[in-house]
Amino acid sequence: MMRQSSLVVVANRLPLDDNVAPDGACEWRRSPGGLASALHAILEGTTATWVGWGGGIGAAPPLPDIGTLRLRPVALSEDELRGYYEGFANTTLWPLYHDAVEQPVFDRGWWETYRTVNRRFAEAAAEVAEPGAAVWVQDYHLQLVPQMIRELRPDVLIGFFMHVPFPPPELFMQLPRRLELLGGMLGADLVGFQREQAAHNVAQLAGKMLGARGADDAIIYDGRVVRTGAFPVSIDVTEMEALSARPYVLNQARQLKHDLGQHKKVLLSVDRLDYTKGIEHRLTAYSELLRDGRIKVRDTVMVQVAVPSRERVESYRGLKDRIEREVGRINGEYGRVGEPAIHYLNQPFDRADLAALYRTADVMVVTPLRDGMNLVAKEYVAARADDTGALVLSEFAGAAAELQDAFQVNPHDLDGLKKTLLDALDATPADLRRRMQAMRAHITENDIHAWARAYLSALDHTGQLARRLPRQ
Ligand code: ADP
Ligand code: F6P
Repeated sequence: MMRQSSLVVVANRLPLDDNVAPDGACEWRRSPGGLASALHAILEGTTATWVGWGGGIGAAPPLPDIGTLRLRPVALSEDELRGYYEGFANTTLWPLYHDAVEQPVFDRGWWETYRTVNRRFAEAAAEVAEPGAAVWVQDYHLQLVPQMIRELRPDVLIGFFMHVPFPPPELFMQLPRRLELLGGMLGADLVGFQREQAAHNVAQLAGKMLGARGADDAIIYDGRVVRTGAFPVSIDVTEMEALSARPYVLNQARQLKHDLGQHKKVLLSVDRLDYTKGIEHRLTAYSELLRDGRIKVRDTVMVQVAVPSRERVESYRGLKDRIEREVGRINGEYGRVGEPAIHYLNQPFDRADLAALYRTADVMVVTPLRDGMNLVAKEYVAARADDTGALVLSEFAGAAAELQDAFQVNPHDLDGLKKTLLDALDATPADLRRRMQAMRAHITENDIHAWARAYLSALDHTGQLARRLPRQ
């Protein structure tokens, strides 16, 4: 049996992803996505156990500790991966929680698998939690886990944090298993969200569906008080600042600038290839600007990084096909020999190469149709310590509530999007400096360490938990 910890984090993914190397060997890589980026940064130097899936099928090979952080893998079979992760989590909950920008699918078989797998995560967490420990459950994949842990281990403190948006009641009400999903989450002592609005939505639903009483910050349910609140997640600003100042990154950035065209303005987008990220709307806006002659390939270039994501899910495959067709069309129509209009990179990058891209971009275009937070926007700001560069940011990203000095835009409004891209391209250095300084001041104050401290000290009033974090 594995040693027990006083802090246990439970997330769908471990911070390492099981990848098959070209020679067929198993190689571990940093997991994609915001959740892994955020939690990795705070847990690396903490004595804790992280319970999660290792990214492969069946039993995971033995995993190394990451410093003082122990990893406890949860195995998934092929059927479970399809029903729990690709099915219920990413074809039912994900689209529904993102404003149903893609039609959610309700499949009864997936629900059963979701419940089974949630129980397995709860049992693993119960096994590695020492008496009186704090167990911090993450995200929509594991919404039933808080209540399951409460049944297995009534002695532990239970936290839950939702990294994605929590939808308005009228959308949530569509879920056939809405009662279990709501009750599962309210098994926690503290439920955290990215935005206040989400806590309000949950309080309304709890009152209506579960007969709970209380307010937006405290729901009285099942004879207990469940506290709720907004804790906007962030990034390790110091790490990104240091990374983007490294000689390797600066050289890479210089090389990229040279390769893209020394005198050209560079528009950059970095997303998981996901329909919530607004990639198609963005391509349309860019292509129309080229068509209208408002921008020219000889002085502007776009780089779209789209890291592969959930590749077996049908809606993701369809999206990839459509994007690749559109990139081909735009390059075919507007590109010149040796001078494409768009560079499309469907591949993962390591952090240093991402930082070099951020340093190269004159305009960072972050235009999701809906996003819990969007850490890419914050990473860009952290990488621009020279106070240059423009951030174009969707109003529908959680980050918009904080980064008010970005060029904010409604990505559904194509004319507005086109105008905002031009405004960002034409902004004066003084305007950009003012905006960037204000945004950097905000994220420096509200970095990932502040997030973890705020959440953990709200979960545990004695402050003991927060004091265990590596940086105070
Ligand atoms: P999401 O959680 O939906 O993926 P976020 O913007 O919050 O969106 O987080 C994405 C994270 O994944 C960021 O930390 C970003 O640096 C990382 N990332 C994005 N694209 C790539 C890529 N091509 N290679 C490696 N990491 C990436
Ligand atoms: O931020 C939302 C989220 O689903 C995270 O839970 C996850 O780390 C990220 O997006 C990437 O998604 P996936 O784990 O499906 O690759």
